[in-house]
Amino acid sequence: MAESSRPMSSGSGRPVYGLASRNARITLAAVKIIFIGDIVGEPGRRAVNEVLPRLRRRHEPDVVIANGENSAGGSGITPKIAEELFASGVDIITSGDHLWDQKEVVTLLQGEPRFLRPLNYPSGTPGQGSVVHQASNRPPVGIVNLQGVTFMANLDNPFVRVRAELERLKQKTNVIFIDFHAEATSEKIALARMLDGQVSAIIGTHTHVQTADEQIFPGGTAYLSDAGFTGPHESVIGREIEPVVKRFLTLQPQRFAVATRGVKLQGAMVEIDDLSGRALRIERLSEAVP
Ligand SMILES: [Fe+2]
Ligand SMILES: [Fe+2]
Repeated sequence: MAESSRPMSSGSGRPVYGLASRNARITLAAVKIIFIGDIVGEPGRRAVNEVLPRLRRRHEPDVVIANGENSAGGSGITPKIAEELFASGVDIITSGDHLWDQKEVVTLLQGEPRFLRPLNYPSGTPGQGSVVHQASNRPPVGIVNLQGVTFMANLDNPFVRVRAELERLKQKTNVIFIDFHAEATSEKIALARMLDGQVSAIIGTHTHVQTADEQIFPGGTAYLSDAGFTGPHESVIGREIEPVVKRFLTLQPQRFAVATRGVKLQGAMVEIDDLSGRALRIERLSEAVP
């Protein structure tokens, strides 16, 4: 591919190509993953519904993964909203620290194989932290949801738990994607460096701020510290500006309504060699909703 000689992008938003593509080894079998950052409320769901069909036509992904932890009014997710996201073209929904905000989530945890919670909850927690998705006549894709422990709840050590899970998943596929829902960039980068060459892509979520550090590490793992969020960007990470400012100013409790304006879908597209599991390309997505 002509683009294989491009340097690594640093903030231009252009695709980043890895070493594997220099041998023109991209084949029709390359796996494509679209990942959508935290969907916030009704505006976020509308962005998915309006933009995802276009992204699907453009990239023809094998799987669309979306973090849905804020999809119900900004807090948590319900079975009805999960159905709405599946109907909009999402294949797998991941989550994070807002997992328990809606009590109906228990139904999803108990009976929806397309819904993931962070893997590193204590054993015995309902639901699952990984899944293998396979579109018809396409290679299987392993998907893992993990949560960080730095400046967050004290879940099990994600570094330890993910290693054991990868041993299991590697029996089924070399194409593995991780949504690492975490606050600290150091924790995200350290986990990705530990797993470089063992998984295809690690993309961070939770901060709702898209970072410009997309790259492919030397072992072939695509990485982005944070995918950003899908929802109203004329806001403070998805909420109306004024009450959040007032809260910081006065330290008094405020109601944080989901904002309405400047709606965008944010995330990333990753292209992967299906045999080796190495990433070939990672591209940030940030699409305004007209
Ligand atoms: Fe979060
Ligand atoms: Fe979030």
